[in-house]
Amino acid sequence: MSEKRPETMQRINTPELAEAFIAEQVEAIKAQVGDKKVLLALSGGVDSSVVAALLIKAIGRQLVCVHVNHGLLRKGEPEQVIEVFGKQLNANLVYVDATDRFLDKLAGVSDPETKRKIIGKEFIDVFAEEAKKQEGIKFLAQGTIYPDILESDGVKAHHNVGGLPEELDFELVEPVKFLYKDEVRVVGKQLGLPDQMVFRQPFPGPGLGVRCVGAITRDRLEALRAADAIVREEIGKLDPVPWQYFCAIPDFVSTGIRYVNGKGERYMGWAVVIRAVNTVDAVTATVPEIPFSVLCTIRNRIIETVPGVNRVLWDISEKPVSTIEWE
Ligand code: XMP
Repeated sequence: MSEKRPETMQRINTPELAEAFIAEQVEAIKAQVGDKKVLLALSGGVDSSVVAALLIKAIGRQLVCVHVNHGLLRKGEPEQVIEVFGKQLNANLVYVDATDRFLDKLAGVSDPETKRKIIGKEFIDVFAEEAKKQEGIKFLAQGTIYPDILESDGVKAHHNVGGLPEELDFELVEPVKFLYKDEVRVVGKQLGLPDQMVFRQPFPGPGLGVRCVGAITRDRLEALRAADAIVREEIGKLDPVPWQYFCAIPDFVSTGIRYVNGKGERYMGWAVVIRAVNTVDAVTATVPEIPFSVLCTIRNRIIETVPGVNRVLWDISEKPVSTIEWE
């Protein structure tokens, strides 16, 4: 099958064009798949969510969605996947809470690339195990989009399920492979997916794993998840919102002071870092202005509600020289 977007293909930028695309893809999927079963790794990101919604429209519960929670997702993400796909769309959804498995493998590992490798390999192992439990799967659906093809010769650059074992070499179903990201979003909106999913900011495959700097511990990871939710909520109110905005937590402690019965007591706590960037292609990035009042609201909420954190920092470094992620 050709890997080149047809030159006649119109840019999908209206609900009408999205509707026509959906109708066309639903027929194409039905024709390709027949009455066979299709497997999809559903991360909850925009690409896999749109693919899931398209396939559900075409073949309903013949699609088996596997949502692997590696314990490094942002606050509320697994719950949203279960709510939207499991409940609202009545998907055939397998939810795997593999948190302990991932965190046990990551314990004591501080090198960022080793962490990435462990997370990637473990993901494939968990997904392959779930795939083997399913009977009669003939197809694998993927959220490949056109930039993935352009940038990487047809191999989804950091696709979660690249590298499945040979015995799970299914035929691929890639309904959005000729779409650009903005078109995927228009289609997602037309399919009725929530804005939170359709307009989600980019989130790395290894998730909070590369933002919990150094060796991940469960308590520091929980502090990161809680602080990150606050940062996303408060910066998310800005107009326009930055391209990417989140929180990282370094693996050092610094001194804090708290008052117990009127008496000052020194203690060591973590620092969380607010990171917000604007970029076009993630190759270079600038730091947008954030009103001081917003930073103060974030600081107050984090210090008051996140156990173990006694310091809030704002990262004003640009790329280059600083990468967007801390690891
Ligand atoms: P950096 O940190 O290299 O990030 O400036 C550029 C963009 O890529 C994302 N990123 C990743 N995405 N797996 C991914 O899927 C990764 O390991 C990874 N590392 C960084 C990052 O969030 C930013 O948008």
